[in-house]
Amino acid sequence: MSSSDQPLAGKVAYVTGAARGQGRSHCVRLARAGADVIAIDACGPVAASNGYEPATPQDLAETVSLVEGEGRKILAKEVDVRDAEGQQRVVAEGVEQFGRLDVVVANAGVLNWGRLWEISAQQWQETIDTNLTGVWNTIRATVPAMIAAGNGGSIVNVSSAAGIKAVPGCGHYCASKFGVVGLTNSLAVELGEFGIRVNSVHPYGTDTPMGNDVSMYEMFAAHPNFIHSYSPGALPTDSLAAPNLISDVVVWLASDASSLVTAAQIPADKGYLKI
Ligand SMILES: NC(=O)c1ccc[n+]([C@@H]2O[C@H](COP(=O)([O-])OP(=O)(O)OC[C@H]3O[C@@H](n4cnc5c(N)ncnc54)[C@H](O)[C@@H]3O)[C@@H](O)[C@H]2O)c1
Repeated sequence: MSSSDQPLAGKVAYVTGAARGQGRSHCVRLARAGADVIAIDACGPVAASNGYEPATPQDLAETVSLVEGEGRKILAKEVDVRDAEGQQRVVAEGVEQFGRLDVVVANAGVLNWGRLWEISAQQWQETIDTNLTGVWNTIRATVPAMIAAGNGGSIVNVSSAAGIKAVPGCGHYCASKFGVVGLTNSLAVELGEFGIRVNSVHPYGTDTPMGNDVSMYEMFAAHPNFIHSYSPGALPTDSLAAPNLISDVVVWLASDASSLVTAAQIPADKGYLKI
């Protein structure tokens, strides 16, 4: 195995929202690239308005088995990203077990639908708490250990195409994902002196339980004009993007192949943002 096959050999990565979907894919691909993994997921209902099924403990167990199948170690815990102390505990345990922390992928997120003046206060708060405050909690749990280790590192915050282009029908989600961009770029400047890079990734429709949520179509049926904001993108498209394709970007950002890239917003959107 050459260093180009395993650009993360000897490194340790922390991934949130790791039970399924993109988070599971990131765990497997980071492990394949040589990293041991610390993984968390709520493994249960996280937002009352979500139109798709919650992840389960069995989903997280499957992630564990897939990472171990890559020959890497994994510490996986059922922790909600809104639980700041819970994140701090699992990061401390992971750093104790694996000896360091180099890569952070703040991936956990929720998406549900409604016009801004019609969603409930709970719907607003649950989305902001997971998608934005949850990322801040992840940063607070991980950055001190990365600075202390003195090895530099890479933090990858998963935003969305809807974190660059505001779209109708999920303005609370847009607000949370735009917030992730501000957080990313401020943090990148603050962490530059420690050799820690911070970037955000902006997927568009991706083939996961969230991406396949049919309640989006109910929103389009009620408000047909909204569909104009959701073009299929510039590239030929007959399906949602495979999570593995988002992991290509995440592994690149995690590795030294992107050593000049920080405070950047990387689209994974087939050109959708330019249409
Ligand atoms: N699927 C898409 O089309 C799409 C597009 C753009 C951006 N995204 C973003 O990608 C990320 C991953 O989403 P996905 O498509 O894999 O969705 P998913 O629902 O399949 O997976 C999300 C995972 O995060 C976990 N999670 C959610 N809230 C949590 C919390 N409070 N604490 C801990 N874990 C929590 C869930 O349990 C689940 O396992 C999200 O941030 C999402 O907003 C998704």
